[in-house]
Amino acid sequence: MATAITDDQDYTILPDLPEDVFTAPLKKPEHVGDDWLEPAQTRYSSEEDAIWDDLFERQMGVLPGRAATAFMEGLEKLDLGRGGVPEFGKMSEELDALTGWSVVPVPMLIPDHVFFWHLANRRFPAGNFIRTRETFDYIQEPDVFHDVFGHVPMLTDPVFADYMQEYGRAGWKAMRYNRLKALGALYWYTVEFGLIEEAPDDIRAYGAGILSGPTEVVFATEAQSPNRIMLNVDRVMRTDYVISDLQPTYFVIESFEDLYRQTVERDFDRLYSNLAPAFTYANSAVIDVDYVLNRGTQEYLLRGGRGSGAKPV
Ligand SMILES: [Fe+2]
Repeated sequence: MATAITDDQDYTILPDLPEDVFTAPLKKPEHVGDDWLEPAQTRYSSEEDAIWDDLFERQMGVLPGRAATAFMEGLEKLDLGRGGVPEFGKMSEELDALTGWSVVPVPMLIPDHVFFWHLANRRFPAGNFIRTRETFDYIQEPDVFHDVFGHVPMLTDPVFADYMQEYGRAGWKAMRYNRLKALGALYWYTVEFGLIEEAPDDIRAYGAGILSGPTEVVFATEAQSPNRIMLNVDRVMRTDYVISDLQPTYFVIESFEDLYRQTVERDFDRLYSNLAPAFTYANSAVIDVDYVLNRGTQEYLLRGGRGSGAKPV
């Protein structure tokens, strides 16, 4: 069923991952097919449903006024606080009616080319499992709370929903040029850790990595440590990122239309041809071309970050 990548791409067909493309090795569980989809969503225990409810309540204590308006409206449209882990079938029906997206269960992180293929077809892969009480505050692998609570509300916004599909399509070209790391940085600094300036001095978070935890939403929008810089796609794709601590830099968009335009109108062929294989800029760097909203003190990073007991100020 898989085919090679061509210029004239049919995005409905699962692409092969080119042999010379570097990517993290993942071992496919035996019970899933080439699409990596679970045959059905897990049936959650009442304790697991209670974990969802407690996580939801905790986030609702910090998100109002800090989360993007589109995100808060998405939560409401899909009624994700109705109690327990949402049922993907019903949620997908509601989401489909709004923007044509669905949510599909996967066992774990899935390979990049499969992930791109689902996004290009407006399917959002969501982890099937939920964290435990022991890992309530921090988990390495994205679970159903991160994936559904963090990501799905933004898919109710028509422009952001289109951006996510375009991002999936962009994956084909990144594979052809062996520049998945660069495209990954764009995902990281927008879909996971993006900020939006809704009005002057009113910076909100729309990234799922920020919105699915209690600490980073305050840090990203209010703390003095991190840089806040207006998004520039070329610059972001050259910037390293940290996966296990608060970000030293956040990139800010004016609007989702702006994000969509910057991505769709960019000539990625030229960009990838000129891009070094490794990142050029450290994740705390401020460079000449930056439009800086807040030049961070980096106090949190300089004091040692996570594990040092440094306050996220
Ligand atoms: Fe995520």
